[in-house]
Amino acid sequence: MAVNKVTLVASVMACMLITCSYAESTLSCDQITIWLTPCIPYGVLGGNVSSLCCQGVYSLNAAYKSAEDRRGACQCIKDRAACIPGIDYTRVNQVGPRCGSKCPFKVYPSTNCSAVP
Ligand SMILES: *[C@@H]1O[C@H](CO)[C@@H](O)[C@H](O)[C@H]1NC(C)=O
Ligand SMILES: *[C@@H]1O[C@H](CO)[C@@H](O)[C@H](O)[C@H]1NC(C)=O
Repeated sequence: MAVNKVTLVASVMACMLITCSYAESTLSCDQITIWLTPCIPYGVLGGNVSSLCCQGVYSLNAAYKSAEDRRGACQCIKDRAACIPGIDYTRVNQVGPRCGSKCPFKVYPSTNCSAVP
């Protein structure tokens, strides 16, 4: 892996950790961030989704217990994605299908997470 990729991922992780502030949901944004961090290289650089990324997606999908959880996750992912330089939203929304898993919402800068079922 090239050094600039490592630097990018490291700075993105730092960015994610600093801005995290969703404590009210049962499913914490910290946890979601940990699960989905391995998906960031795909979201920014493309290529293949890693198996670690897919494991994170499966864990997240298995963790949803309520609409509240899904809305919180939507907001969390949206906020984190906005924080990532060079993020490609088309690829972000391909991660679920690429892992053979459905995502209950699509994430774009304009997504209204309160409307997630
Ligand atoms: C993606 O995975 C396939 C099958 O494992 C492999 O043939 C291909 O080279 C990979 N593509 C990239 C960009 O890593
Ligand atoms: C988002 O969706 C909720 C629930 O459907 C709605 O009440 C709210 O007005 C919407 N907000 C925006 C900015 O569209």
